[in-house]
Amino acid sequence: MKIASSFVLWTLACASAAQQVSNSYSSKKRLVEPQQLISDISKRNLLDHAKKFVDFSKLSNGTRAFGTAGYNATIDYIRKELLKTGYYNIELQTFPFLYSTGSSTFSSNGTNYPANWFTYGPAGDVEAPVIHINNQGCNVTDYPTTVPGSIALILRGSCDFGLKAALAGAAGAVGVVIFNNVAGPINGGTFNLPTRPEGPYVPTAGISDADGQAISDILSSGGEVIGSIHSEALNENRYSSNLLATSKSGNQNNIVMAGAHSDSVPAGPGINDNGSGSIGILEVALQLSKYETKQAVRFGFWTAEESGLVGSSQYVTSLTTAQNQKIALYLNFDMIASPNYGHFIYDGDGSQFNITGPAGSDKIEKTFQDYFKSIKYPSGSAAFNGRSDYGPFLTGGIPAGGMNTGAEGIKTEEQVALWGGQAGVAYDKCYHQACDGIDNLAVDAFERNAKGIAYAVATYARSIDNIPRARNATVAAKLASQLDSNSGSCDHAAVAM
Ligand SMILES: *[C@@H]1O[C@H](CO)[C@@H](O)[C@H](O)[C@H]1NC(C)=O
Ligand SMILES: *[C@@H]1O[C@H](CO)[C@@H](O)[C@H](O)[C@H]1NC(C)=O
Ligand SMILES: *[C@@H]1O[C@H](CO)[C@@H](O)[C@H](O)[C@H]1NC(C)=O
Ligand SMILES: *[C@@H]1O[C@H](CO)[C@@H](O)[C@H](O)[C@H]1NC(C)=O
Ligand SMILES: *[C@@H]1O[C@H](CO)[C@@H](O)[C@H](O)[C@H]1NC(C)=O
Ligand SMILES: *[C@@H]1O[C@H](CO)[C@@H](O)[C@H](O)[C@H]1NC(C)=O
Repeated sequence: MKIASSFVLWTLACASAAQQVSNSYSSKKRLVEPQQLISDISKRNLLDHAKKFVDFSKLSNGTRAFGTAGYNATIDYIRKELLKTGYYNIELQTFPFLYSTGSSTFSSNGTNYPANWFTYGPAGDVEAPVIHINNQGCNVTDYPTTVPGSIALILRGSCDFGLKAALAGAAGAVGVVIFNNVAGPINGGTFNLPTRPEGPYVPTAGISDADGQAISDILSSGGEVIGSIHSEALNENRYSSNLLATSKSGNQNNIVMAGAHSDSVPAGPGINDNGSGSIGILEVALQLSKYETKQAVRFGFWTAEESGLVGSSQYVTSLTTAQNQKIALYLNFDMIASPNYGHFIYDGDGSQFNITGPAGSDKIEKTFQDYFKSIKYPSGSAAFNGRSDYGPFLTGGIPAGGMNTGAEGIKTEEQVALWGGQAGVAYDKCYHQACDGIDNLAVDAFERNAKGIAYAVATYARSIDNIPRARNATVAAKLASQLDSNSGSCDHAAVAM
């Protein structure tokens, strides 16, 4: 279904006055203190929330994707828990977005290959000769004149999946097979945008590097391969909500924000990705309600992150200049309990990955480094590549930071020396899969990171003195170009050690 350009329809459903009469907020509370808030965070509460999230996923066949009953139950639970404290003003931002789910199979000359489907991919059945596309299929010139009527075989990387599929469609391909540029299957992925100006999407399947290479080898030695793709897809508009909870405590012109996405991919319950992030900030928000803060603290639970950072983008682009200016900084937490974890802090100062956040992002990075130093535990660095909900904040000129524990990237020997675990194995082998349940959580990393969230939130709730408040449009525009060119092609954690 094609989405209308005016698809965004905001309804700001503020919590009714009746829900807020049990306002237990009192300015007589003690000022929050990092070590105190850290000690309030318990593994037991984190796991209790995680079990609830798993139950919610059961309402919709094992997923908490936006647009499902599982997602709605997640938001409802967060809302009720936060309302009970009486400490927050709660807003829901509800809007429709294209819900997309499907599956693809791929076979060639009678051999079936394990294949994945990409979000926004169309349904269809095609059988055609397979043609190898030059380079990584990110440029119209990569598509030879033999493409019309064929299935385009394209190597992953350099640009996002959606651009490859659209360029192939524009060149006349009837289907696309994208093969991995790192060992193993692709395990899900998204075209990022429901439609593209570059061309129409065609039925697409993702396969492993080894399978793609084998077919590529046959083609380069002059062999012919007849491929067939069968894609099933459901693409329809569905409503869901961002939830924003702002403390009544603190200066409402100086807002410290922490956010995580509260949806999962359709393929699984999303307990690490990114249930863990939203559970971490939920528990910090609940414990914070015992204290007074100097700054207001706002927690954002984003919808439809997995569909291309939709909820956080809607939120940031909906802010007026004055509302944007009030946000002092944004902290992002997405996947903080990967089973084969590393402890990666976003590279706010650009020293590791050459993408530097707005001024103040360097200070935020240091705040998380200070936390790990304080617990005498090693930390690493993650690229500020825009692969999570902090992206829209960076391009909105807002200083940002955060941490994650890695996704489908592969852990190195050096990292095992730092954090234990298994070298040569993904940080999260269940990334975007049905097995991302309670058993997929590294409980020790979960607790360590939730306490890290508490440390950063408490630190900034007390003082934002080292965070510049001026916005720099030049820096924001440069980031927009850097993040765009990286989207979809980079590893989730993109780790430098
Ligand atoms: C539920 O999930 C299973 C496994 O992921 C899938 O095979 C089945 O088709 C799904 N059912 C519905 C109604 O979506
Ligand atoms: C989820 O909530 C939205 C927004 O309130 C609503 O429009 C939608 O019907 C709900 N979906 C389900 C599956 O309950
Ligand atoms: C596409 O390739 C052409 C020819 O090599 C080159 O001139 C052009 O800059 C490329 N475009 C992009 C967007 O990379
Ligand atoms: C695949 O099947 C086609 C059509 O039957 C045939 O021409 C081609 O040689 C086969 N390729 C291989 C590698 O077996
Ligand atoms: C860092 O990025 C800038 C462009 O933003 C580029 O000019 C520079 O060469 C890069 N430096 C390194 C070391 O990659
Ligand atoms: C914005 O940042 C750029 C690059 O760091 C800097 O050269 C420029 O002076 C800044 N502009 C303002 C208005 O601070």
